[in-house]
Order: sequence, then C-alpha cells, then structure tokens
Amino acid sequence: MADSASGQTVQKDRLEALLLEERKFSPSGEFRRQANVASQAIYTRADRDPEKFWGGYARRLDWIKPYKKVLEWKAPWAKWFVGGKLNVTANCVDRHAASDRRNKAAIIWEGEPGDSRVLTFGMLEREVNRFANALKSLGVGKGDRVAIYLGMVPELAIAMLACAKIGSPHSVVFGGFSAESLRERINDAKAKILITADGAWRRGNLVPLKKNADEALEGTPTIEKVVVVERVGKTAGTTLAAGRDLLWNDLVAKASDKCSPEPMDSEDLLYILYTSGTTGKPKGVVHTTAGYLLGTSVTHHLIFDIKENDVYWCTADIGWVTGHSYIVYGPLANGTTTLMYEGSPDFPDRGRFWEIIEKYGVNILYTAPTAIRTFMRWGTEWPAKHDLSSLRLLGTVGEPINPEAWIWYHENIGRGQCPIVDTWWQTETGMILITPLPGLTKTKPGSATMPFPGIRAEVVDEKGKSVGPGAGGYLVLTRPWPAMFRTIYGDPDRYVQQYWTRYKGKYFTGDGAKMDKDGYFWLLGRVDDVMNVAGHRISTYEVESALVDHAAVAEAAVIGKSDAIKGQAIAAFVTVKEGTQPTDQLKEELKKHVASKIGAIARPEEIFFSSELPKTRSAKIMRRLLRDIAEGRLLGDTTTLADPAVVNRLKHQYEEEGKSE
Ligand code: PRX
Repeated sequence: MADSASGQTVQKDRLEALLLEERKFSPSGEFRRQANVASQAIYTRADRDPEKFWGGYARRLDWIKPYKKVLEWKAPWAKWFVGGKLNVTANCVDRHAASDRRNKAAIIWEGEPGDSRVLTFGMLEREVNRFANALKSLGVGKGDRVAIYLGMVPELAIAMLACAKIGSPHSVVFGGFSAESLRERINDAKAKILITADGAWRRGNLVPLKKNADEALEGTPTIEKVVVVERVGKTAGTTLAAGRDLLWNDLVAKASDKCSPEPMDSEDLLYILYTSGTTGKPKGVVHTTAGYLLGTSVTHHLIFDIKENDVYWCTADIGWVTGHSYIVYGPLANGTTTLMYEGSPDFPDRGRFWEIIEKYGVNILYTAPTAIRTFMRWGTEWPAKHDLSSLRLLGTVGEPINPEAWIWYHENIGRGQCPIVDTWWQTETGMILITPLPGLTKTKPGSATMPFPGIRAEVVDEKGKSVGPGAGGYLVLTRPWPAMFRTIYGDPDRYVQQYWTRYKGKYFTGDGAKMDKDGYFWLLGRVDDVMNVAGHRISTYEVESALVDHAAVAEAAVIGKSDAIKGQAIAAFVTVKEGTQPTDQLKEELKKHVASKIGAIARPEEIFFSSELPKTRSAKIMRRLLRDIAEGRLLGDTTTLADPAVVNRLKHQYEEEGKSE
C-alpha cells in the first residue's frame, strides 16, 4: 500500500478485526416475498449484457427524443444514451403531477421544531415552475451555472429542480462551508447567480449564510444576482445589496406557474458538485443528464425496495452527493415520498430521529455509521421511547461500518427484522455501486457485500493484478456505469490523471478493499491523503494549506486519527515560525482559523506543536508515522527517513504531553 497513505493503518486494524467476522443475516421470508428483486438471475443477466440491462430500464424514463445507442465507451470517456433528449425535472416532477400521484406527498419537510411542510407532486410542480421562471427573468438560460448555498429547506430542492428544468447546471455548496470555500467554488464554476438564505437554523443557533455569502461575493466577478430565501427572518439582520439581491418570495410572487421543460441532450451537464481530492483545490465533479437519472432511480428502486406508499428518509444533507442522488433525484424520479429534515439528531433532544420516524411512519431509513455510533453512545432508551414499527429497511453510507454498530442498528432500530443495506459509492460514482439487494443478499455485518448488477469491481495490487480472496488491495472498477461522472469541471487532464492512469482503463477509487472467499467486498478506508471525518471527505492538503496560511505557522502535517464516533478525527502536527510561542491559546486560534477558512467540519480536533516533522530523503512528510504516533502504535518502517531520530523524539514528546494533559 502507498507509503504516504493516511489510510494504511486503518486498513491493517480493520482487516484484522474483519477476519473474525463470520455472522450472516438473511432477509426474512416475509421480506423476500415482497421484495422488488427476488431472483439472483438479475446478476447473470446484467453481467452477460450490461448495455441491454441498463437499456431495459431506460423505458422507465420519459424521453423527449429516443436515444440511438446505450453506450459509447472510449475509456475513460463515456456517453450514455447517445442522441437522446429528456428533461430531469419533467421526469422527477411533471410526469408524476400529471398522473395519479398528483396529490401524493413528494417532499415532506420537517424543520427544526415547530415547522413542517408537505409538498405534493402537484404543488412541487408549481413551485418549481415559478422559480424556473424567476431564474429566467434574471437572465439565466441553458448552460448558465447557478450556485446554491442553503440549509435543508424545501427551497433547496425546488431550486435544484428549477435549474434542471431550464437546463442550467447547479452547483450546491454545503451550508457548513465557509465564505472562502463558497467563493472558490463559485469562481471555479463561473456561476452567474447565487441562491442563498438570510440564515439557517442549527440546534437553535443561527448559521449566517447571507453574511458568509456577502463575504464570498467580494471576490466573485461572475455573479450577477443573488436570490435570498427568508428562513430566519428579522433575527438575521440581513441587508440586501441594491441592484444585486432579490428576495425569493418577491420573485416567485410575480412568476407564472407554467414552464415547459428544456429538452436536454442525454450528455448535457446536470450539475457540478465539489469534493476533496488528494492535492490542489476541491474538484468539480461533473454529472450529466440521462445516465445519472437512470442510475440513481434504478438503484434507489431496487436497493431500497421502494413501494408506492413508502415514506423514505435519507438523513444526509443535500450539500453532499448522497442528498443529490438519494434525497432529490433518485426518489423523485421514482415518484417516492422523500423526507427532508432541517435540523440535527439531538435538538431539542436525542430522540429527534425516532420521533420523526414515528410521526411520519417512515418505512426506509438511510443514514451514516457516524450517526449510528453516536446513537449507540446515547443509549437505547431514546429509540425505545418511540414506535419504530413502520421501518422495513435500513441503509448506511459514507464510511465503513464497524460490525458492532451494524448489529446495534439491526437490533435496536430494525427490531432484528429489517435488512440493512451497507452501500458503497462516491461523489464521482453518482450512484450506489457495491451493496446488498435486500431481498436476496445474505449480509455480513461490516461488508458492503457485492457489486450491483452490471457493475464490475476488483481488488488489485500495486501493479494492477487481481489479488486473491482474503488479501487486501486497491478497489478498482472495470466497467463504465450510467451515473459515472464524466470529467472534472474545467480540468479533463485531472480526470484522466487522477482516476484512470494508475491502472489503464480501470477506474481507481482511492479505497482499499478486501474480497473474501464468498466474493464479498470489505471496504477498508481511503488509501490516499483524503480523510473521512464523520462521513465527510476532507483532504489533508486542504487543512494543511489553511494552517500554513496562518502567520504563526511554518509547516503543518495533517492526519486522520482513528476516532470511535467520527471514524476519523483531524490531528495536526504544526511547526511554528521562529520567535512564535507555541501556546494553548495559539492552538485554539489555529483551530478557529481552519474552521473559518474551510468550514467547521474541517476544524482540527487536536493540534500538536513540534519543532520538526519526519521526512523522507526527498522531503516528503511521512504521515503514516504521524498516525502511528497519534494512535499510540509502535512506529512502522522508518528506513526511508532522512533522519529517523526525528520521529523517535516526536513520539516521545507526544507521549509526554499526553501524560501531562
Ligand atoms: O472511502 C469511501 C467512503 O466514502 C468515500 C466517498 O466519499 P464521498 O465522495 O464524500 O461520498 C460519500 C457518500 C457516497 C469512499 O471513497 N465510503 C462511502 N460509502 C462507504 C464508504 N466506505 C465504506 N463503506 C461504505 N458503505
């Protein structure tokens, strides 16, 4: 495994623990009988002729013009449903509004205590059309990029769907990101319009979205207008810039609720979503129209075993890909009632999720291992206070789930009766790729099980050779899939270099994995310098850049340190400039500095001052050894270091400081 790999030690620990995991869980007869997929034949059928397999599902979509060919693949460039025309919003909203689903709930929105709102497909269609017309009135047309910086309010989904309706790619920026992160993303996409809110609620506190946006907009020459949703009202103290800022409500009040969908080519851009890579700035992952819609809707239908009257809840924030694919596009394309929750799991108390499940009779819950581990710590008394009998299926995503958390979820939330789908995928993959099919697959706690039908995954060694069962290696994908990203926005070379060059013609995921003797995949964490903190992807490079941006810092090395709740927590080793005192106060200041540069999710948990950092002879910082130190392990191989004494001194110093704390 890669030398600088921040994930390396995680893998070793996890491999050892997983080798002991032997339990298997089968779906109940009752679940199996009603499941959307009831036969293993789907795997052989899809494997034999994947294009026919995906093409078969294309009939589920409404096309404006039929496509000529399912796939054109000139690795690494893919075109799916070549020559077809369709509109994503017409598929997610209009066709349901014109059917028996007109008065069915499309979005159930639960705000922080006190507020809730239900939008039927009919209502959603009108709201989307009004906002689509509002965008047009601001001069937004096909191809113009629209940045969206909102909390979890219905207007977020409405804005995305309105963009898709008129063919304007959106770039949603998570509301927890800082002004600087927002600015960077707006500028990379050269967005014309920004949609934001006066603020957002988080645990009863105000998140100053408009204030951050104003700061970001000091350096965004392409933004012409700003649309402001009023979520918190007067308390936000928002000021509107004359000639630039407009209120959402004023705009839609004047707009017609009729809007015909823009015919989009299958390969036209649907959205850009930024994610952290190993080096450089966050990259704009590009998703296009037909393949993405097909991939997300088919996986949603089959993996979550969706039935017409289900209430489905994915607890992610729409600012991340999980929310794009499995709160908005996948579920709505299927005409499913999707629940959107604005707040956090512990406000006003730790029973909030279970209260929501009882209130709406949620049937399917899709959440993250970090949340499950937090619930475990809070204790079973919280879920026990509520009737969770409506739940039929549970899902997890975002990071490897440890078997204990899996079992806890199964017993305490799923009453021992709900299948669990542990779904592996990425911002780049757009859709779930490794997962159980809930009516078929025998699950093993901690394993995402097998590639979805039509998907081929392999575990390979450094040279790209498949490793045998039981051995660890790199996860690669060897076939294109419909919702795959098509490029990095404005940087096709990076797309080729980062993902398709290491193993020619194969997609390199950046994850370590192991396949067991039954063909099950066990994901082992990142093998590159990307951290996974509470299911959020953050690169060590970004945090290091934010640290060295501070006047007191000479050098910084950042690692993801194993954390019982978050999976990984950010730890930073910092060398201060000569003449600067490394005080506790400075530690706090540096943490704050990183949070203000990137966002609170990137705030280091721990900062350790050291006068030197372990480097190889070619001056590369050996993060692997820093992880060994932070996690209290014996030091790994130090032979490539320029000065092995440095790391021993550092370890000693770290342990001494730990004792005195
Ligand atoms: O390391 C894998 C981990 O999350 C990474 C992708 O992060 P992101 O693009 O932010 O998307 C997260 C949600 C799709 C992967 O490279 N990951 C995601 N799901 C799992 C996982 N690791 C193990 N098991 C999973 N189920």
